[in-house]
Amino acid sequence: EWTSASFVEMAIEKIREQVGDKKVLCALSGGVDSSVAAVLVHRAIGNNLTCMFVDHGLLRKDEAEQVMEMFAGEFKMNVVKIDARDRFLSRLEGVTDPETKRKIIGEEFIRVFEEESKDLGHFDFLAQGTLYTDIIESGTATAATIKSHHNVGGLPEDMQFKLVEPLNELFKDEVRAAGSELGIKDEIVWRQPFPGPGLAIRIIGDVTEEKLEILRDADWVVRDEIKRSGLDREIWQYFAVLPDIKSVGVMGDERTYAYTIGIRAVTSRDGMTADWARIPYDVLERLSTRLVNEVGNVNRVVLDITSKPPATIEWE
Ligand code: XMP
Repeated sequence: EWTSASFVEMAIEKIREQVGDKKVLCALSGGVDSSVAAVLVHRAIGNNLTCMFVDHGLLRKDEAEQVMEMFAGEFKMNVVKIDARDRFLSRLEGVTDPETKRKIIGEEFIRVFEEESKDLGHFDFLAQGTLYTDIIESGTATAATIKSHHNVGGLPEDMQFKLVEPLNELFKDEVRAAGSELGIKDEIVWRQPFPGPGLAIRIIGDVTEEKLEILRDADWVVRDEIKRSGLDREIWQYFAVLPDIKSVGVMGDERTYAYTIGIRAVTSRDGMTADWARIPYDVLERLSTRLVNEVGNVNRVVLDITSKPPATIEWE
């Protein structure tokens, strides 16, 4: 019978056996999978693990700080934060096509990873939070792909790493259980899936600092309200989308011309199919009021009521 305690024990032993006294690099995204993988490897080999956390500027509010606090602060892991916000934003300037956005972000991520890891020394191994389902979905897991950006082909040929994938026989619920066993906080263990390209694919049209700020604030309100309402474990993903629309409104005696926020919330078991979440009206009412009042430059809120298929969970 599978228990998280025996899994953790065996995984640590296996990592030690595989890696010996060699150095391991890990791309930490702050998501559940990479977090659990990193903590597990850290338990096994301590400071022979170096984690790289790339802040591409497309993260949610306070996310970069939280990740650093948790892993560098609390777990005393060796985490190097790379501030690549300007690089990503300038490469995305004027880009509106969803696939082009993904491609640019994926490429830039690899470039940053490659450049910055050179400065960190030599690594024989790359640790990744690949799950059992990821392997099934992609057929094989031969190339050293950065999992959090699964749309990317992989690392350049001359970057040869052996892979450490301690979660590759687990399903998501087992990863969460292992994470709790390792003492990782609920706020990370129960984190909803967040796409590698981040907020860029939730902004329809071109990505600007102004729009990122609006979406970051709106996303925070959605997360906060869903959590307060106690719906955060029932709903698979819940977030705000910023369509490329401004519309007319009125506030006090003033005519406004401002952005629309779309609320996207779905229930799902695996993200492959999804149903739109039946959020109670009173929660929707609070969401609507808060989004308009607490987020600047927003005067309208709409709700996405399509399932997957025919829609996807993300808007891009
Ligand atoms: P869609 O929008 O295709 O999303 O229904 C299915 C699930 O995958 C997530 N997603 C991504 N995750 N990189 C990721 O790591 C991506 O480019 C990406 N696109 C979508 C999405 O959030 C949902 O959980």
